[in-house]
Amino acid sequence: MSSPSVLFVCLGNICRSPTAEGVFAQKAKQRGLALSIDSAGTAGYHHGAAPDKRSQEVALSRGYDLSRLKCRKVKEDDFSQFDYIIAMDNANVKDLKRKCPRELQHKIKLFLDYANSDFEEVPDPYYGGKRGFELVLDLIEEASDCLLDKLNEAK
Ligand code: 4NP
Repeated sequence: MSSPSVLFVCLGNICRSPTAEGVFAQKAKQRGLALSIDSAGTAGYHHGAAPDKRSQEVALSRGYDLSRLKCRKVKEDDFSQFDYIIAMDNANVKDLKRKCPRELQHKIKLFLDYANSDFEEVPDPYYGGKRGFELVLDLIEEASDCLLDKLNEAK
């Protein structure tokens, strides 16, 4: 059986979902879990760009290197390729469901549904200050641990 695959999705694929990709990949590696991990955006504004400098800086301050990641847009075959399609907010879920074939929509989940958080969504930090990027990383670290626990139990 091939290893489970996880696609993280936000709007731009330069702040939240690449952070989730980098954090989740590092945590999976630390646990010795073999997973296929990627991220993408529902919009294609920044295609080919590296993650936002602010996301990179905050992530690096906690030991996650996002510098080699490249932005891309969600594509049609992502819905069949990935086992879990994990959205950062409800707008992402809505956009994904509009594009996804009905029989594959069960793969689309809200990331913080896995966490025990006061937040329902990972808020978009793009137009805010550094504190917003720290909050994004806090939420992503917690939800990653919870989702990895679930995948580990399902092994
Ligand atoms: P992300 O943040 O969805 O977490 O990558 C955003 C990045 C860029 C834009 C919006 C949100 N933008 O409007 O360019």
